[in-house]
Formats: sequence, structure tokens, C-alpha cells
Amino acid sequence: MSAQPVKVAVTGAAGQIGYSLLFRIASGALFGPDTPVQLRLLEITPALKALEGVVMELDDCAFPTLAGVEIGDDPNVIFDGANLALLVGARPRTKGMERGDLLSANGAIFTGQGKALNDHAADDIRIGVTGNPANTNALIAMSNAPDIPKERFSALTRLDHNRAISQLAAKLQVPVTEITKMTIWGNHSATQYPDLFHAEVSGKNAAEAVGDQDWLENTFIPTVAKRGAAIIEARGSSSAASAASATIDAARDWLNGSAKDDWVSMAVVSDGSYGVPEGLISSFPVTTKNGDWEIVQGLDIDDFSRGKIDASVAELAEERDAVKELGLIS
Ligand code: NAD
Ligand code: LMR
Repeated sequence: MSAQPVKVAVTGAAGQIGYSLLFRIASGALFGPDTPVQLRLLEITPALKALEGVVMELDDCAFPTLAGVEIGDDPNVIFDGANLALLVGARPRTKGMERGDLLSANGAIFTGQGKALNDHAADDIRIGVTGNPANTNALIAMSNAPDIPKERFSALTRLDHNRAISQLAAKLQVPVTEITKMTIWGNHSATQYPDLFHAEVSGKNAAEAVGDQDWLENTFIPTVAKRGAAIIEARGSSSAASAASATIDAARDWLNGSAKDDWVSMAVVSDGSYGVPEGLISSFPVTTKNGDWEIVQGLDIDDFSRGKIDASVAELAEERDAVKELGLIS
């Protein structure tokens, strides 16, 4: 095992997602069996007692890869030297809410955390935002961390990506491993656009393999886009284990690289690609290597896809304007 542990900061560590995420990171699911990990866990003060209990459980697992755990309520301390920060801590929505309704409740969390990351994280920091509304929270953190390259921030649309793969595999009765080049465009919200026109099933175009525009438009897209709400309706609380799993998938692929002849969906800062205004954190098809990402270029976007992407991006622009109005970004 290498001597220097990777320092992974996780916020909202005593929450639902944290309860699944921490154990997977500690067991080596993110960095493999040969890399020790130090967990640095942030919570609000009233949740520190519960977090102590979670740490007792982490201790009790005797994970060979867990090289230590620090907990606290001060982001300036917890983000100190962090190589990876997973920003999960934020209020989840409840029945009947859209994720954007959380902006005023959660947005302010990401100004202070952006500043603390700016001042204390390690030079190689990568930041993944899971807490909702994830894209705009990532925008807030990025805007408050002027010394961290903008490419180091991403928001989680990997859960939507995984949901889209799973729905398509079930429809075509194929293993999920046959599905490649899935893309989620836009916002992690009900306006997101899961795109089957560039996805492939066993190397063949997925939309053609489905051959059913009605299913694609009226079943597939809404099922994926509204899956979070369906889980809240069924479980009484929002997705947790699947969100933790997607948070791991996203970070692992970002750091280790996406598979050959495939890509992943990540919400990253736009450079204007595909007509998405520069500076918005929007989901794109990306390839990754060694902690860097590149937006896949040259995909043909037909009128149907254009309309869907534009609608989701318009919502992101509205969210950006709303957080400007709240004084959370300048
Ligand atoms: P939860 O309420 O169970 O846990 C959230 C935790 O965050 C709580 O323990 C809370 O004390 C903590 N917290 C609040 N403010 C904090 C702060 N300033 N610093 C540190 N910790 C803080 O919620 P959960 O189910 O774990 O979900 C967390 C967030 O993730 C929610 O916003 C939820 O909507 C979002 N989510 C996103 C995705 C996605 O795909 N992007 C998927 C599922 C959930
Ligand atoms: C999800 O997609 O499951 C999460 O974003 C939680 C939610 O509010 O839907």
C-alpha cells in the first residue's frame, strides 16, 4: 500500500447518502485495495453526535484501506489538504417539491464551502457536488473559489446516466454492459435530457434499436427525469444508496479515466460547446483521464434534441440568475 493516504472530504457525512458513501470509500471502492484513504467529514454542529456514531461503525469495519477519520463542523479545518471533496451536505427535497425549490435553503452552504476549499484544499483538489440543486450549487462553489481552476468542479448527473442505462437495458432485455455512450444533457432536474440518439446498444444506435419514438419521448425520458420524485414517493425519502453509488462512479471515472470507446455524463463548466452558454455548469458527454475531462465534440444534434437541451439550459440560466439575485455569486 502507498504511504500517503488520499484525503477525501465528505460533507453531510451523517446524512442518508453519507451512510452508504463513507463505507464504500473506506472499503476501497473508489481508490482500490492498494490506496489508503483518510476521510475528513463535515457536518453541522447538531449532527456531530450522530456522526460520531457513524465513525464508531467505520472503526468497527476494520477496513484495511481506511487510514484515519477526522470529523468537524468547520470547513476550513475539514477541507485542509483535501485531494477530493464530495459535497453532499444539503437539504433534500420532499414530496411535491422540485429540486430548484431548494436554492434558497441550500445555496448559501456552497458560498462558504467554496471559499474554504479555495483557501485550504490541496493543489490537486477535485470537487464533486451531489447536494441539490447540484448544478447550481457547483456553480456557487466554483464562483466562490477563484484560485481553483473551474474544471475542478463538477455536479452529479451520473445517477441520471445510470438510471438511463438501466431503463434502456430493461426495455431491450440486454445486460447493462451492452450499453455505451449514454448522455444526460443539462440540469439534474426534471428538464434533463437523457439522449438515446447517440447512445449505443452492442455498438448499434440505441434510438434505432428501440425503434419506438413514442416510448422514447413519453416513457423513457420522463421515467429517467422523474425517477428521483418516484423514489421519494415510494420510499418517503430521497434516493440514497444509488446516489452514493453514482457519486463513487463519477469520482472514480473522473480520476481513473472513462472506458475506451465510451463516455460518461458529468455536469461541468460549459465552454460554449453545443450552444450551452459559457460558464453554466451543465451536463455533457465527457471523456476523462487522470482527473481531467473533455467534452465529446462533433455530435449531430437534431431539432428534437436541440429543443430538449435548450429547455434544460434555459432553466440553468434562470437558476444562475436567481442565485445572483440572492447575492451568492457575482
Ligand atoms: P440528508 O438530509 O439525509 O443528509 C444531509 C446531511 O447534510 C445532514 O446530515 C445535514 O446535517 C448535513 N448538512 C446540512 N448542511 C450542512 C453544511 N452546511 N455542512 C455540512 N453538512 C451539512 O440528505 P441526503 O439524502 O443525504 O441528501 C443530501 C443531498 O443530496 C440532498 O440535497 C439531496 O437532494 C441530494 N441528492 C442529490 C442526488 C444527485 O443525483 N445529484 C441524488 C440524491 C440526493
Ligand atoms: C435524485 O435524483 O434521486 C435526487 O436528486 C433526489 C431528488 O430530489 O430527486
